[in-house]
Amino acid sequence: MRFLTGIQPSGALHLGNYFGAMRPAIELQERGEAFYFIANYHSMTSLTDPARRRQYTFDVALDFLACGLDPQRCVFWVQSDVPEVAELAWLLSTVTPMGLLERCHSFKDKVAKLGEGEAGSVNHGLFAYPVLMAADILLYDSNVVPVGKDQKQHLEVTRDIALKFNHLYGQTFVVPEPLIREEVAVVPGLDGQKMSKSYGNTIEIFGDEKTLRKKIMGIVMDSRPLAEPKPDADRNLAIQLLKLVAPADVAQACEDKLRAGGYGYGDLKKALFESYWNFFAGARTKRAELAASPDYVRGVLRDGAERARAVAAKVLARAKAASGLA
Ligand code: ADP
Ligand code: TRP
Repeated sequence: MRFLTGIQPSGALHLGNYFGAMRPAIELQERGEAFYFIANYHSMTSLTDPARRRQYTFDVALDFLACGLDPQRCVFWVQSDVPEVAELAWLLSTVTPMGLLERCHSFKDKVAKLGEGEAGSVNHGLFAYPVLMAADILLYDSNVVPVGKDQKQHLEVTRDIALKFNHLYGQTFVVPEPLIREEVAVVPGLDGQKMSKSYGNTIEIFGDEKTLRKKIMGIVMDSRPLAEPKPDADRNLAIQLLKLVAPADVAQACEDKLRAGGYGYGDLKKALFESYWNFFAGARTKRAELAASPDYVRGVLRDGAERARAVAAKVLARAKAASGLA
């Protein structure tokens, strides 16, 4: 069973990314062959600063390895280190109906936000994005693709493309199944909305202690007096976040104190900061070690690319033979 997923290198990862995507992906290492890559070709559709792309790519590698991705158990590489994917994307684009791409919500959303992005206009890459994503998946004979709900439609496009190619040229590609993380709750951000880079309400996994303490202590709460019991304690934002990063009994004790009254929001936020800081203490140490050994990290990615490329070469050869290119 091969799991494959891609991670965009688009800036510092936050608690939403961790609980929504990273931790589930890291856990899957135990259940099959994990193929994970950093989608730097994809990032070109929206980010046009070379230095930032280079930095973010390396940072995502550090973040994943620090959080528990194990290079002995998975294949971890940078997308563009296996350039076969771009060639396969061309083959696939010739069997992709325009209408299929025109219907993609993520493309339509980005067109609607036109002007806000760094690219400044709708580029063809943004339109063709799902074809490259199909190539990412089909190039490695992936069986299962773990993604968030936002990627569900892209998986449907991938399946359609695989079936169409197989129909036209004979059985070539494994038709993948999505593994949609329906059960993962949306992690709320500092303002109570979904935590997201685009809302500027994130708590980063790795960041400077002072900045993060300030962010957490700055969470705005209601103005009920300290002594007043809070029967809705379970809906309190700090309690919700605490349940993710604190041992269950600690989070429960804070919730009970808040419900009873007499427990101040300042103390609650302090407890949240401490638990958050402790939760990632091990990962933070690991990340600092990795950051001090960039050659080791580059070696992991190089080795991953080599292993990925061995699979990619076989599948691409199969597709070229089937379609009369070879
Ligand atoms: P952002 O919204 O910050 O741009 P992305 O869209 O790059 O984050 O997120 C990558 C993945 O991380 C998503 O597909 C989703 O699975 C997960 N994710 C992001 N934010 C959250 C959140 N607030 N709660 C749960 N999962 C999230
Ligand atoms: N489009 C995905 C996202 O924005 C990232 C991605 C690129 C991906 N290629 C993939 C995910 C292939 C799964 C499989 O989150």
